[in-house]
Amino acid sequence: MSPPPTILVFDSGLGGLTVLREIVRARPDAHYVYVADDAFFPYGHHGEEEIIARVVPLVGELIAAHVPDLVVIACNTMSVSVMSHLRAAYRVPFVGTVPAIKPACAASKTRRVSVLGTKATVKREYTQALIRDHGQGCEVTLIGSAELASLAEAALNGVEVSDREIFDELAPCFVGTGATDPARTDTIVLACTHYPLLLDRLVRLAPWPVDWIDPAPAIARRVSDLLPSAGTEADHAGAEMIFTSKRPHALSHALMPFFGGRVPV
Ligand code: DGL
Repeated sequence: MSPPPTILVFDSGLGGLTVLREIVRARPDAHYVYVADDAFFPYGHHGEEEIIARVVPLVGELIAAHVPDLVVIACNTMSVSVMSHLRAAYRVPFVGTVPAIKPACAASKTRRVSVLGTKATVKREYTQALIRDHGQGCEVTLIGSAELASLAEAALNGVEVSDREIFDELAPCFVGTGATDPARTDTIVLACTHYPLLLDRLVRLAPWPVDWIDPAPAIARRVSDLLPSAGTEADHAGAEMIFTSKRPHALSHALMPFFGGRVPV
């Protein structure tokens, strides 16, 4: 049987854990290296050229150090800026995370969809092109949130985050007069991997029920398809977590559920 594959999962912070969680479910046999580029967080506040200049060499160093079989860019803000540059620079297969506009527009009954992402993600031409190509005639509202990724980081670190702070970022996604308006928003794309960390609170604070579209399960299926078939679960290998800031953190146990119960070293 082939040795367990190594999968490198890269994000600006803890948001990529929501993608990792699904990949670990799909491939419990793999060895995981999770890298949070927290020294450069939040990516949503950086320009496209800055992100390219940061990510392309850094991913090259990570590939050299960890020799992964596959790299997952578990960040929309990075993916809509750098995927073509990474694929041109390195031979390892890459899987990106981009706003799930196509499935959201296919699912919306009211034909009104909101895309909630970082300010950088909603500005990028890549995102605009997804709407042009896959909007399927829906009204798509782009909402760039300045704070929600930082609020999600804070909440996962055990810092108190108020409902008001979350609601202020969420409210612009809800277009329409209420739950009975036939033209209301009925589907919201979670276009930042940090946001599913707050999903329970987003659901509770929503002015009316909507479908929340998280691309993580689809990404996990894609990863699984690209790798040789899995060994048995008993083979399942270890997990490492790296913060580029090298800041000490006490999160290993709190993060275990995202690593399928392993304690990342
Ligand atoms: N997790 C990142 C994303 O999916 C964004 C967070 C940040 O601004 O760094 O877009």
